[in-house]
Amino acid sequence: MGTKAREIVGIDVEDLVEKLNAALADEWLAFYQYWIGAQVVKGPMRSAVVAELMEHALEEYEHAQQLADRITQLEGVPLLSPEMWYEATNCGYAPPEDERVGPVLQQNLEGEQCAIKAYQELVDLTRETDAATHKMIVKILQDELHHEEDLEDLLEDIEVGLGS
Ligand SMILES: [Fe+2]
Ligand SMILES: [Fe+2]
Repeated sequence: MGTKAREIVGIDVEDLVEKLNAALADEWLAFYQYWIGAQVVKGPMRSAVVAELMEHALEEYEHAQQLADRITQLEGVPLLSPEMWYEATNCGYAPPEDERVGPVLQQNLEGEQCAIKAYQELVDLTRETDAATHKMIVKILQDELHHEEDLEDLLEDIEVGLGS
């Protein structure tokens, strides 16, 4: 809880908390999508793919923690149940029904690209109005940009490998 923290925010705090909760929903869904993908994925470079998916899953978990900390600091309540994730999410959830490496990586890549767009909007919203949230979101956005690059590199490596 942070009384002054809430006071210095130059935009509607309830609206900001709602947007941070949407991002929190995205992070939990992304965590699970990566984690379950790592359990079921099959195909070329499986162990490299599993390692990458698990690394990303843990980073999404850390993002969820940071978002929850900021929501609490702003005297908001982080989403209390998984049912609320589906209502709040920007980017949704794609179950890895096709467990081949290509489709699994592609699904996660689409999730990252949605997250990048959503975080860019939060970066713009908070640039002049909320330094603390802004700084946190910029850092998360940088991680999502790395995630996109990692997935695109893996997809490229697999494609090159299959072509040889
Ligand atoms: Fe994330
Ligand atoms: Fe990510």
